[in-house]
Amino acid sequence: MPDSLPCQSGFGNEFATEAVAGALPVGQNAPQDHPLGLYTEQMSGTPFTAPRAVNRRTWTYRIRPSVTHRPYEEIPMGLLRSGPFNEIPPSPNQLRWDPLPIPEEATDFVRGLVTMGGNGDPAVQSGIAIHIYAANESMHDRFFANADGEMLIVPQLGALRFHTEMGILDAAPGEICVIPRGIKFRVVLLDGQARGYICENYGLAFRLPELGPIGANGLANPRDFLAPVAAFEDREGSFHLVTKFMGRLWQAQIDHSPLDVVAWHGNYTPYKYELARFNCINTVSFDHPDPSIYTVLSAPSTVPGTANCDFAIFPPRWLVAEHSFRPPWFHRNLMNEFMGLVFGAYDAKAEGFVPGGTSLHNCMAGHGPDAETFERASTASLKPVYLANTLAFMFETQFVVRPTAFAMSTRILQHEYFECWQGLKKRFAPEGVAESKNG
Ligand SMILES: [Fe+2]
Repeated sequence: MPDSLPCQSGFGNEFATEAVAGALPVGQNAPQDHPLGLYTEQMSGTPFTAPRAVNRRTWTYRIRPSVTHRPYEEIPMGLLRSGPFNEIPPSPNQLRWDPLPIPEEATDFVRGLVTMGGNGDPAVQSGIAIHIYAANESMHDRFFANADGEMLIVPQLGALRFHTEMGILDAAPGEICVIPRGIKFRVVLLDGQARGYICENYGLAFRLPELGPIGANGLANPRDFLAPVAAFEDREGSFHLVTKFMGRLWQAQIDHSPLDVVAWHGNYTPYKYELARFNCINTVSFDHPDPSIYTVLSAPSTVPGTANCDFAIFPPRWLVAEHSFRPPWFHRNLMNEFMGLVFGAYDAKAEGFVPGGTSLHNCMAGHGPDAETFERASTASLKPVYLANTLAFMFETQFVVRPTAFAMSTRILQHEYFECWQGLKKRFAPEGVAESKNG
């Protein structure tokens, strides 16, 4: 694990931070003449008129304003794709993939973006794209910003250091980092190579879910979210600024580091969260709640209760349900479920779903425990048991995740996935089973 960096605690708070004393104006946002010669620039992450609880904007005080770069020119996309996802017809089959290999040629975080699928369209700010990154090279003189959506990054292999306009954040496997739309950053690989998952959210920003009858505490608590403190680069040279705009990559020459914010205040900022801080809530009697009980962050749509994307995790936890089938049950869903595994094993699958791998169960596709897991869980002793060494997650989205052509043609696609359920036998006994195995 890298050394911990200074951070500010809270979710959506009005943070205030300066890397040089006197850089942050007091009592007003835009003084006529900044005492340290900094430019003032506001960054609005929501409409000016968004309700106060979800309004996001930050005032930055920087060495140069963001307009100072040469014109953008389009550059190749590699395996990065964007909505509308219409390369191939989406398949109704259950889909599962092995981990994406780490590339052999020099590949940074941006070049290493591989899109597995998505929905919606950045042009209408709705839907998501799901990427896997696999990289072996840090970004020093190349910077990235994504105008199409915010990026929820789930490291699976190797720690990342995000140098951003608002400061520096580290994220290792077991943590997540969210980079809001448009914020410039570069990624340093602290362990030489890295792999992980990204939900690129074209829609309304991720926020904490409402808690309803759970009460004022629980699930992801606001104080465990960490924003960076101001840290600036005063570097000049021949650099590249890459931006993702309307589904394509564009690159501009820039003669200085755009990470030159000396002070800022506001609530539009990258943030990180350690998933082990998630206060897991579940049954203490029988059955289990729907997996929405594991929601860390939710990006709403305009329909109440219908997420553009929920981010849920399945962390280590006690299983105590009595006379219940404890793993996730067989299921079909209006919503669309893309899963990944950060480490360990997932309790609905005996094998085949490995760390770094992914699965996709789209609208109304049957899914659930494989035959081996079903047999084991149907006869298991129901003492309290601690489910250790496991961290799976799900991006659950309103719209069908349409796989990319790459996802459906790559060698890491598991064509035999369906076989894991073929051993589920007919068990129907009209006369009744002789006795319950679980008493
Ligand atoms: Fe499901």
